[in-house]
Amino acid sequence: MPTSTELSNARHHHSDASDRASHNPPNALARNAEPGACPDESGIPDEDDSAGTAAVTRPSARTAVDPAPTVRRPTIADGAHMWRIASDSGELDVNTAYAYALLARDFRDTCRVAMVADQTVGFVTGYRRPDAPTTLFVWQIAVDPAFRGRHIGGLLLDALVRDLVDVVAVETTVTQTNDSSRRLFGKFADRHDARICESPLFAAADFPDAHEAEPLLTISGLAR
Ligand SMILES: CC(C)(COP(=O)(O)OP(=O)(O)OC[C@H]1O[C@@H](n2cnc3c(N)ncnc32)[C@H](O)[C@@H]1OP(=O)(O)O)[C@@H](O)C(=O)NCCC(=O)NCCS
Repeated sequence: MPTSTELSNARHHHSDASDRASHNPPNALARNAEPGACPDESGIPDEDDSAGTAAVTRPSARTAVDPAPTVRRPTIADGAHMWRIASDSGELDVNTAYAYALLARDFRDTCRVAMVADQTVGFVTGYRRPDAPTTLFVWQIAVDPAFRGRHIGGLLLDALVRDLVDVVAVETTVTQTNDSSRRLFGKFADRHDARICESPLFAAADFPDAHEAEPLLTISGLAR
């Protein structure tokens, strides 16, 4: 059994050197973005999510993926693929393979995998916050390096939130230096006409290992 530390210690922390875009979307968060006060979003009573098995597609504005990527809930077998993609990411703190198998079984409603043909090329893991079930916390998201830059990350987020019809806010933590992730969430907020704000959450001193601070991004007011 993994320890609680093993289950909770996997967030991204490395720098992403890919800051290649010249156009910043309105919600693109700069590395030096000032932490702002986050409004208190009132919750809506939790509802069981029974959707999420249908594949969705979104055309890529960058490079066509042939065949088009699809998104679905993970199966237990996807746990191993999620572990591999996390291990290959070069960014994420890698959970145990056991943890990904557990997530794929017990949190499948709030996790998704992206498929190209029969290959698992990306995943997102998340959960409803126990104290605020209409807030989705996105724990990890990663795309196989060979498939990055094709908006598969955005496709995963869009498909997950589309299925969680009662979710009104998305939270995640992103290091100051993870430009790709900041752009991913900034553009997600733009697509959903949502507000995004940044506030302190986990300081470097909160981690026992060499780990950057993990400020909190709160995306609220999702257009449904
Ligand atoms: C963050 C991540 C999931 C984005 O997935 P994606 O499918 O590549 O997302 P997008 O195609 O929308 O690209 C998002 C940004 O990544 C960057 N990017 C684009 N192509 C890239 C490539 N080939 N390699 C790395 N980054 C790239 C760009 O900054 C892009 O922003 P832009 O579209 O405004 O130019 C992916 O880069 C990844 O797996 N990173 C490692 C894991 C990680 O850091 N996860 C987030 C924290 S949990």
